[in-house]
Amino acid sequence: MKDHTEHFSRRGFVGITAAGAAALAYGDTSAEQTNVCRLKINGKDCSVQIDPRTTLLDLLRENLQMPGTKKGCDHGQCGACTVLVNGKRVNSCLSLALMNDGMEVTTIEGLGTPGQLHPMQAAFVDNDALQCGYCTPGQICSAVAMLNEVKQGAPSVVTADLSSHAQIHLTDDEIRERMSGNICRCGAYVGIVAAIRSAAGEKTA
Ligand code: FES
Ligand code: FES
Repeated sequence: MKDHTEHFSRRGFVGITAAGAAALAYGDTSAEQTNVCRLKINGKDCSVQIDPRTTLLDLLRENLQMPGTKKGCDHGQCGACTVLVNGKRVNSCLSLALMNDGMEVTTIEGLGTPGQLHPMQAAFVDNDALQCGYCTPGQICSAVAMLNEVKQGAPSVVTADLSSHAQIHLTDDEIRERMSGNICRCGAYVGIVAAIRSAAGEKTA
């Protein structure tokens, strides 16, 4: 029987494998693939043809030219990219756009308008809760979802009473803990906590 290994040497195999790996690493355009992603963004239906590797953040900023949502670390560490997906806060840099297919996305552009601010946006303005403003869209989206989590009774690690009927008292410690995924490099935390406390209608610290 003929030995086929003579036509498929070890050196040849290594060469073929290396070429394949390089094509994957550098993006072989001949194998480019796109998918349709359908979302409702700030109340409007949209359908975009995208590379399946596109994150929700890049879809918003690059494909849809909606720069309100910010890119900070692009690694899930700063919260600048926070948006609401079906009402829940999500780090859009960590979420592939296609994973959100069919869902409702709310960005800072959809929370309020310059003439009619969302109560959380107004509270940030009233409490000087920003300096450069880069983290602010993420802080505001996160705070809006956070207040809903509190309303629904979701405890945090600093919640003292975990019994299901207990009403969560939104202390400053609760606010700081629940907002700990949103970093502010300007250190505007005092104003941010005050703004959230005021939007929540809590008077005490
Ligand atoms: S840009 Fe997404 S968490 Fe920093
Ligand atoms: S206001 Fe500048 S990073 Fe927060």
